[in-house]
Formats: sequence, structure tokens, C-alpha cells
Amino acid sequence: MTRAWHLARTPRGVPVAEDFVCHRASLAAPEAGEALVAPHWLSVDPYMRTRMQPTGYGYLDKWRPGSPLSAWGLARVIESRGPWREGDWVIGHMPVAERCLLRPHSDQGGLPLVLPAAQPRPEQWLHERGMTGFTAWLGMRRYGRPQPGESVLVSAGAGAVGGLAVQWARRAGARVVATAGSAAKRDWLRETLGVAAALDHHVPDIATRLLAVAPQGLDLDFEQLGGAVFEAAIDALAPGGRVVLCGLVSQYHDTEPRRAPSNLGRLRRIGGGITPFVVPGHEAAHWADFQREMAALDGAFRAPLDIVEGFAAWPRAFCGLFTGDTGIGKRVVRLR
Ligand SMILES: NC(=O)c1ccc[n+]([C@@H]2O[C@H](COP(=O)([O-])OP(=O)(O)OC[C@H]3O[C@@H](n4cnc5c(N)ncnc54)[C@H](OP(=O)(O)O)[C@@H]3O)[C@@H](O)[C@H]2O)c1
Repeated sequence: MTRAWHLARTPRGVPVAEDFVCHRASLAAPEAGEALVAPHWLSVDPYMRTRMQPTGYGYLDKWRPGSPLSAWGLARVIESRGPWREGDWVIGHMPVAERCLLRPHSDQGGLPLVLPAAQPRPEQWLHERGMTGFTAWLGMRRYGRPQPGESVLVSAGAGAVGGLAVQWARRAGARVVATAGSAAKRDWLRETLGVAAALDHHVPDIATRLLAVAPQGLDLDFEQLGGAVFEAAIDALAPGGRVVLCGLVSQYHDTEPRRAPSNLGRLRRIGGGITPFVVPGHEAAHWADFQREMAALDGAFRAPLDIVEGFAAWPRAFCGLFTGDTGIGKRVVRLR
């Protein structure tokens, strides 16, 4: 037997725990090529909210009421009829369940990834070596490419992708300004990550404050929030300034997701550019390069985990992503 979280109903606005339901189910024995695994850690991520919307946002399959949920996770092999050995760590997308069956894929750049049982610090694959790390790497190393002395904004900078994006930009020699929703997160951005300024993204005069801390204008906006912060960033872009559109988390509850920033036209006037990207589709071409670079930089990144305990807490951990009820870094749920 196992337990698994399913979507109970389509959330309206900010999701609440009652939008989810836990079902018990029996598990078949693994077939040839499969392994029975026990997730030790499961991720919660903002993009999951977009999968719960009836329409729009569509780059991943929708979750309808009754759909089983899936997440990036770190699991241990219990029984294998495939290439993995008992005790190995498996990292990749898996059901939000206490136990599940997985098999290797050949078309996703080596994912799920398998690591030997004795792997030190397997948890790093939940964050800096995992999907959030890959997102920050793609967004900054492949698309944003900050240059020495450039001025860079990272919104939601104390979150999972944001904290790593800040560090990539700092490593490139850029001057970084970031935003975060709490004083503790802004202190961490200033004192630990060394940003030049950390702004509260909830204040109504964010545009004025941004111009005050980036008076020469922004060369790069690493956009994760959307809404008022995105518009403030567009207004603050220097001539030729560029936007890497990583996410729009402040809008994921809107049933009409396609509202453009009112000042988008300014990009034309300043000769600016906007590059949206999503991780799916990049794995085969770039996952191995990302892993090589991260292995060479082992230990160089501050990548704290914001741990919520227990399988039962998965919905609460997820809902907190949208209410500011998160700690610094990558939010994950520890099952065992
Ligand atoms: N392009 C891709 O393939 C890709 C992949 C992964 C993630 N992303 C995007 O990257 C962004 C960050 O994702 P993450 O996984 O690193 O999550 P995260 O930043 O660790 O968590 C989300 C954070 O966003 C802030 N937030 C949530 N709702 C908000 C609102 N209405 N207004 C202002 N701030 C709000 C909160 O930070 P505060 O507590 O600081 O307010 C919250 O902790 C998201 O937009 C996500 O969709 C994109």
C-alpha cells in the first residue's frame, strides 16, 4: 500500500489545503525495467499552480480534479528489476506518494538520475544540482549572460531559483539588486549573498525605490514575479536592457494569465529584448553541461533548504509558496 496526494478540486485564487486529497492505493510489484522506490524528499514549486488552472499557461499537462500530483523528488530504490540497485538514490520527477514505481528514460538527458547509495549530500540534487539549479543556470548562464559591471535585478531573490540566479550574476561581476517579501530574506540577500540593495516587492512605490537603487538603469531583469515589479523593472531598464522571463508567480492564480505589462512597448523604444524560457525541452541538450559546471564549482553556492516535515504536510508546504510563508532558499518536504 501507498498514499498519494491528488488534486481534489480546482483552486480558486491562492490554493488552500482543502484543494488536495490523499488517497491510499495498492502498488503492483515492479515489472521488468522498473524499480520500486521510496521518496525521501519531494519538492513543491510555483509552476504546479499553473498546472491546476483550467486553461492557459500551457506548457505542461493539466491537473484536473482527481489527478495524481507529481514533483521533483529524491527517492531510494527499495526493489529493482531494472538497472538501478537497491539503496541507490534516484532523482527526477515522481508521483507525490510515499512509494512509487519508476523506470529510467532515455530521452531526457539522463533523467531520472541515479546516484550510488553512498553518495555524499544527495540533498543537493533537490536544489543547486537539481531543477531549481538548472533553471538558474539556464536563465543566467545561457540566456541572461550578465557582464562585469552590469546592473541586474533578480525578483524573488531569496527563493530557490532567485538565490542561485543572484549568485550567478555576482560571480559574473554584475551589481545585483534583488527583491524579497520579508526583512529576514532581505537581510540574507544583503549580508550573505552581497547584493547591493534588497527591496520589499510588496511596497506600492516599488518603481521609485528601484530607480533610487539603480540610478543608471538596469541592464538585465531576471523576472520571476510579474505584476507591479515587472512593470517597475521595465521602466528602470537602461537603453538596450534585456529581460529574461523566468516566471510570473504573482499571476499564477489569475484565471486570465495573458495580461501583458502595460509598459511593454518601452522595450521597443529602448531597443530592449525579452527572452522567455522554460526548463522542459532543455534537458537533453544542456543537463550534462550544467552538471559538469556545477561539479567543478562544488560547494561554491549558498543553497539552503527550507524544510517542511512529513508527507501529510505536502499541501501546506505548497500553499505557503504563495502567501510568504516560506523560509530562505528551496522549499522541500522531507518524508523520512
Ligand atoms: N522558467 C522555468 O522553467 C522555471 C523553472 C522553475 C521556476 N520558475 C519560476 O521562477 C520563479 C521562482 O520559483 P522558485 O521555484 O524559485 O520559487 P520560490 O521563489 O522559492 O518561491 C516563490 C516565492 O515567490 C514569492 N511570491 C509568491 N507569490 C507572490 C506574490 N503574489 N507576490 C510577490 N511575491 C510572491 C514568495 O517570496 P517572498 O517570500 O520573498 O515574497 C515565494 O516564497 C517562479 O515564477 C517560477 O514559476 C521558472
